[in-house]
Amino acid sequence: MVRHDDSGDLRDQASRLRRMMAGDAEVDAARRSAHALAVVSGKGGVGKTFVASNLAIALAARGHRTILFDMDMGLANADIVLGVEPVGTWSDVLSGRRALDEIIVEAPGHVSFVPGCSGVTELANLSEFERHRLLAAMRRVEARYDVMVLDCGAGISRNVVAVADLADTVLVLATPEPTALTDAYAMIKTFAQERQWGSSDRAALASIGLVVNNAISRREGRDTYERLAGVAARFLHLPVADLGYILRDDHVPAAVRQRRPVILGYPRCSASSCLLALAGRLSREMGRPEASQSLFYRVINLFV
Ligand SMILES: Nc1ncnc2c1ncn2[C@@H]1O[C@H](COP(=O)(O)OP(=O)(O)O)[C@@H](O)[C@H]1O
Ligand SMILES: [Mg+2]
Repeated sequence: MVRHDDSGDLRDQASRLRRMMAGDAEVDAARRSAHALAVVSGKGGVGKTFVASNLAIALAARGHRTILFDMDMGLANADIVLGVEPVGTWSDVLSGRRALDEIIVEAPGHVSFVPGCSGVTELANLSEFERHRLLAAMRRVEARYDVMVLDCGAGISRNVVAVADLADTVLVLATPEPTALTDAYAMIKTFAQERQWGSSDRAALASIGLVVNNAISRREGRDTYERLAGVAARFLHLPVADLGYILRDDHVPAAVRQRRPVILGYPRCSASSCLLALAGRLSREMGRPEASQSLFYRVINLFV
């Protein structure tokens, strides 16, 4: 019979943790440069992946060096929306098979992209150790970018809260549906508590903004924002910024079927115009990039 030696495992874990901490000190010494924007939602299927991928392209088009991380560890699919073939996923990084740099691929629209992994149930609930490893790897690459867009999984898992802890801006996505709104409120409540009791100063400073997706009109977008922001102000004493709305548009599912980001496939459709306006708002909040605006943005600007 083979006897399992726990003490060896523990020693191994402790030394890995020490090595990791030493690495972190190095990383912290380097100035944090990128603005981290986490796209989260209470309810699933409200358009996080659609918004995160197209927003990343719109920000890149404004001259920000942008990287998109698919942080949905259960149902990753940003690669489909972007139409890229991953060469590796987070699963390879967490297992130590590959470095994060080895799995970064160039996606359409001048965006760097880190693919997530689907159907690996253990990853949906990472251990504290793995979460630490993942966040440390992200910090190592961030110096090369101006913006990190994080496409998170739905709901209030420990993973999502940890990722949002890293964010400068938490973009909560909801639709006008009552269930999506209730879930968005629950999500905002969790972040409000995190800001109060959370471990990092960053969480305390992060701004929370709402984007209403799938609105049938500007009016519906506005009303939905006012309702949610009103409740958050009254019960949580938390300001929720108005980041605008995105109209329901048949070009969005059409683009997904073509595996082409809507903002590149249909840059003049109503959903793309809303996304460009959102990128403009966020870009102003983050400050203008040094680089001059790309040709794509100048061309697109003629239409909006
Ligand atoms: N503004 C919109 N108009 C029309 N369809 C949309 C819109 N936003 C999202 N969708 C559709 O909703 C579905 C779910 O979007 P997705 O981004 O995968 O959601 P999540 O990442 O939150 O689970 C997609 O098939 C997408 O085409
Ligand atoms: Mg998604």
